[in-house]
Amino acid sequence: MPLAPKLAAHGAQIPAIGIGTSGLGYVRAEHVATALKAGYRHIDTARKYGTEPAVGDGMRASGVPRSEIFVCTKVSHENLHAGDFARSVDASLKALGLDYVDLLLVHWPEKNTPLAETMGALAKAKRDGLTRYIGVANFNIAMLDEAIALCPEPLVTLQAECHPYLDQSKVIAACRARGLILTAYCPLARGRIQGDAVLAEIGRRYGKTCAQVALRWLMQQSVIAAIPRSSNAARIAENIDVFDFELSDDDMRRIKALARPGGRTANPAGRAPVWDV
Ligand SMILES: NC(=O)c1ccc[n+]([C@@H]2O[C@H](COP(=O)([O-])OP(=O)(O)OC[C@H]3O[C@@H](n4cnc5c(N)ncnc54)[C@H](OP(=O)(O)O)[C@@H]3O)[C@@H](O)[C@H]2O)c1
Repeated sequence: MPLAPKLAAHGAQIPAIGIGTSGLGYVRAEHVATALKAGYRHIDTARKYGTEPAVGDGMRASGVPRSEIFVCTKVSHENLHAGDFARSVDASLKALGLDYVDLLLVHWPEKNTPLAETMGALAKAKRDGLTRYIGVANFNIAMLDEAIALCPEPLVTLQAECHPYLDQSKVIAACRARGLILTAYCPLARGRIQGDAVLAEIGRRYGKTCAQVALRWLMQQSVIAAIPRSSNAARIAENIDVFDFELSDDDMRRIKALARPGGRTANPAGRAPVWDV
């Protein structure tokens, strides 16, 4: 049973592979338990996904001690004022059936809510012991720096879309320079990497699948944790089995060259920031 190495950032130790759980009814408690039994120790959920109860149930069904599991949840953009924020965190802990999470994120930036107020609420959740670490998602680099400057507690991660079809070189470099982990969402480009000719050709040389090559490419960039989602037990096990081979420098270059216009998956109108490209 492969266990993913942990990545360090401002005191946090984040397991490099986690299971994503977006899509109500898509990922259920049994998938979470399957993932934990397969060696996962990192679970990504959000208030918005509606999967927090399934995550909590899956954790308890797995038999894996709470202290070994790194759970992340998120506060939605409509709840970033201090009072709404605190109520959202309480609701998440109730839904999970936990008295703390390991990581709490702002899910998306929201331009009409003062960032200082939101960062204050995020830091308070940490100081109140409701989360061990904090971070943000879907912030561009300028917003990230503003958040770091305004937050009374250190951020440990930026969660952002990251996969071979999207050039995130600037964001990866920005995380590395700030001592942050980039948590890669849609690491399989929401399944689009399946059947990719270049990934398949590289995979054949190592006896690995397109998904494993795509995830290994993220792993070898050293500051990236990835949270692939699957509701299939074999693919759940496959997605963490990426620590027994090494891509060559030429492989890494060829995979990076797969980035393309239109590669981005999550780009909600009216909410997405001006992305760093
Ligand atoms: N912060 C944010 O705004 C944000 C946005 C998007 C996502 N996320 C997080 O990131 C997680 C992952 O992103 P995502 O779910 O959108 O996309 P993803 O993980 O890139 O792709 C999921 C898709 O890939 C398929 N798949 C999984 N493993 C595979 C394999 N080994 N071979 C072939 N296909 C495979 C899955 O199908 P099967 O189930 O059939 O395997 C599913 O259709 C989410 O669940 C969520 O936790 C965060």
